Amino acid sequence: MSKTPRRVVVGLSGASGMAYGIDLLQTLRRIEGLEIHLVMTQGAKRVLVEEMGKHPEEVELLADAVHRAQDIGASIASGSFRTLGMVIVPCSATSVSKIAYGIADNLLTRAAYVHLKERRPLILVPREAPLPIPTLEALLKAAQAGATILPAAPGFYTRPQSIEDLLAFMTQRVLDLLGLEYPRAPRWKEPEVVEE
Ligand SMILES: Cc1cc2nc3c(=O)[nH]c(=O)nc-3n(C[C@H](O)[C@H](O)[C@H](O)COP(=O)(O)O)c2cc1C
Repeated sequence: MSKTPRRVVVGLSGASGMAYGIDLLQTLRRIEGLEIHLVMTQGAKRVLVEEMGKHPEEVELLADAVHRAQDIGASIASGSFRTLGMVIVPCSATSVSKIAYGIADNLLTRAAYVHLKERRPLILVPREAPLPIPTLEALLKAAQAGATILPAAPGFYTRPQSIEDLLAFMTQRVLDLLGLEYPRAPRWKEPEVVEE
């Protein structure tokens, strides 16, 4: 039997915290033999410009394949297209809610739905505070359906010195959840790692 291709789907939706998504993409690019599929919602493109002054094309350069959010017939919309998993970072309250209830009205939510139905890793990185009950309920429902909820809340026990350190913390957690080996951030009571 052929091995699962080393492919990861990265989704960016319209929440604050675009830097987390970009840091993850930049790190994934350094992992040899990994194919990165990217989908950004319209909301993500708006926040990217407003929050970071970046154009979506700059971020798209970090992926091997870029899919339009409207393209619900793209490869990643099908369960037969094998992947190691999907991460949505940052994940808006809107997208969390749609995913929780199986609403697949764009390629990002469809790909997330596919990962749940195929029982593949789906990691959601929400960035909203405070959290209202509808979003809390949606997060619980998504978790019950098989998603991993990884709030954009980096730890401080590794004594971060910079924003870069905070981003690295989150990226490392995503890599770990996807089962990808890459030393991005220090670990608790493990010797310091040096990035290649
Ligand atoms: C600058 C900016 C920042 C935003 N930050 C957040 C956020 O942190 N969390 C969130 O859930 N929505 C946030 N939103 C609102 C979402 O972008 C909006 O609800 C959108 O419809 C989400 O749709 P999407 O998930 O399809 O991208 C923000 C919007 C803008 C313009």
